[in-house]
Amino acid sequence: MTGDILKYLREKEYVSGEVLAQKLGISRVAVWKQIQRLKDMGYKITSDQNLGYCLVSRPDLLLPQEIQRGLSTKYIGKEIFYFSELKSTNIIAKEKALHRTEVIDEGTIIIAEKQSAGKGRLGRKWFSPVGGIWLSVILYPQLPPSYIPRITLMTAVAVVKAVKMCTQIEPQIKWPNDILISEKKVCGILTEMSAELDIINWVVVGIGINVNIDHQDFPEDIQENTISLKEVSEKEVLRVKLAQTFLQEFEKYYDKLKRKEFPSILEEWKLYSHTLGRKIRVDIGERIVTGKAVDINEEGALILKKEDGELIKIISGTIV
Ligand code: BTN
Repeated sequence: MTGDILKYLREKEYVSGEVLAQKLGISRVAVWKQIQRLKDMGYKITSDQNLGYCLVSRPDLLLPQEIQRGLSTKYIGKEIFYFSELKSTNIIAKEKALHRTEVIDEGTIIIAEKQSAGKGRLGRKWFSPVGGIWLSVILYPQLPPSYIPRITLMTAVAVVKAVKMCTQIEPQIKWPNDILISEKKVCGILTEMSAELDIINWVVVGIGINVNIDHQDFPEDIQENTISLKEVSEKEVLRVKLAQTFLQEFEKYYDKLKRKEFPSILEEWKLYSHTLGRKIRVDIGERIVTGKAVDINEEGALILKKEDGELIKIISGTIV
């Protein structure tokens, strides 16, 4: 209902309560209540006795009606669950994908202004205050589980493209899932899934972007290696626009992946790579391997050339 009111308020400078009531088939008191709800959400609406209501400004919130306005995707972000605060968007997304107590379509997203227990990779915490973009996308890819690393890599490309389009900043990708600016982390991706031997049941891709966060607000232990888009652009970045652009890019690359066009995505990934050509140390769980990152293969695995010339394939690991 608030969405309909907003639509009419955007069309004209002033709209009377009577016209709104007629268009929506509700009473003028009900219109007034909806206007109060919008004001509570942060919309600035003035009222004039003769002319009616006037929308003065919109809040900088990642509200579904704001993101969906002008969103050109076919299915990514068509359904949005919005929270001003929750524990973790990945947790809610996984619950929805797992229990399916309601119909949850592919491309449904969970988005929050703030996470109280944001999750990073390897059980780490993810600092998620107001000002960032914390979102999870639910997918049901009809692809084998071996495609999971490719989904993470394509998500990274979609983030880089969206950031570039909205801020002119070109971040780099540190294999497999860190997005960096000037060697510091601006975004992380957490891909979780449920799969059987040869089919994926569901995938939740969680994306955390440090957008409008002041450097001094990051916890001390991560300050040195963390950065926000606001810091780099020296001004606030429009989060709604960035979220929309990301969803559009995400759908484009995910569609490509489903059409088995990963090689072309990989070409783009390599353009933005921070990893290739560098001598690195990778924690692969049971040990740390050292070598030069020489390639990413068609499965999204890192190819490392050890000192003795031996090539090893790393499907999952963390560069240390
Ligand atoms: C990492 O680099 O360790 C991954 C960080 C992923 C953070 C995002 S924020 C949205 C989604 N919900 C979470 O709890 N985590 C991911």
